[in-house]
Amino acid sequence: MTTVQDSPTAAGSGANASQNFKAKQRSEAVVPPERVSAAVTAVLQGVHTAIREHQVTYPEFQAAKAWLMEVGEVGEWPLFMDVFVEHVVEEVAASSQRGTKGTIEGPYYLPDQVRLASRCELPHRPDEKGTPLVLSGQVRDLDGTPLAGAEVDIWHADADGYYSGFAPHLPDGNLRGVVVTDGSGRFEIRTVQPAPYQIPTDGPTGKLIEAAGWHPWRPAHLHLMVRADGHRTITTQLYFAGGEWLESDVAEATKPELILDPVDDGTGVRRATYDFELEPA
Ligand code: DHB
Ligand code: FE
Repeated sequence: MTTVQDSPTAAGSGANASQNFKAKQRSEAVVPPERVSAAVTAVLQGVHTAIREHQVTYPEFQAAKAWLMEVGEVGEWPLFMDVFVEHVVEEVAASSQRGTKGTIEGPYYLPDQVRLASRCELPHRPDEKGTPLVLSGQVRDLDGTPLAGAEVDIWHADADGYYSGFAPHLPDGNLRGVVVTDGSGRFEIRTVQPAPYQIPTDGPTGKLIEAAGWHPWRPAHLHLMVRADGHRTITTQLYFAGGEWLESDVAEATKPELILDPVDDGTGVRRATYDFELEPA
């Protein structure tokens, strides 16, 4: 039986994303006062400029305050920040990275998922919907050396666009796993094709998107974090050629180097390959 609590809501996934973020207990960055002052002054100047340029009124200012409060109250800051801001932080980080291109992590990574052999199937429900998808490839050093025992930590939305751990109707760990590469750095992961992801429309982030007349969609994607001893971890996503929203990702996180073009192998299984190249740490 389906109850109201069973269906994912913005408040549900937002609150879970907030809890998850806090639970990661990232150590607080120690930022020198000059740097705090420089960055915060620039942010405030941007806000002041917007107010002057657009002649923002008192009712609009109060509406903005109410909206900011609501984002905090329902726990949507991780969603909002990762959709609208993270891609620029990633762009700055990427400017000093070699090897496979990274992109945003987003709010739905969960650590400590089940470890799987190099040829594996991601955990899924018995009746998991969606076209079968097989991603295979190799993890290598920048000089081409295969990296055995590397970890391909993968997570993605289901065929309805929902992530396990952030939607109460999905079992924990669904479509998530840490795949360990074989002796020649290879892996082959069987899963299902994810659907495009929609920012929850019923929360404040969704309301803002609607009020501005934007769309709330990200193209279908796989999330990956690839790690190997002595190498810099890469956090990235893989997209699908011809996929909807590829050219207009609300999170601006697509890159041309990250697009798969899976081919049906004649049995209804879509197969794609992607090799990862990690730079030394
Ligand atoms: C968000 C969700 C995602 O799945 C993603 O990849 C990036 C951002 C979000 O809702 O903020
Ligand atoms: Fe995502």
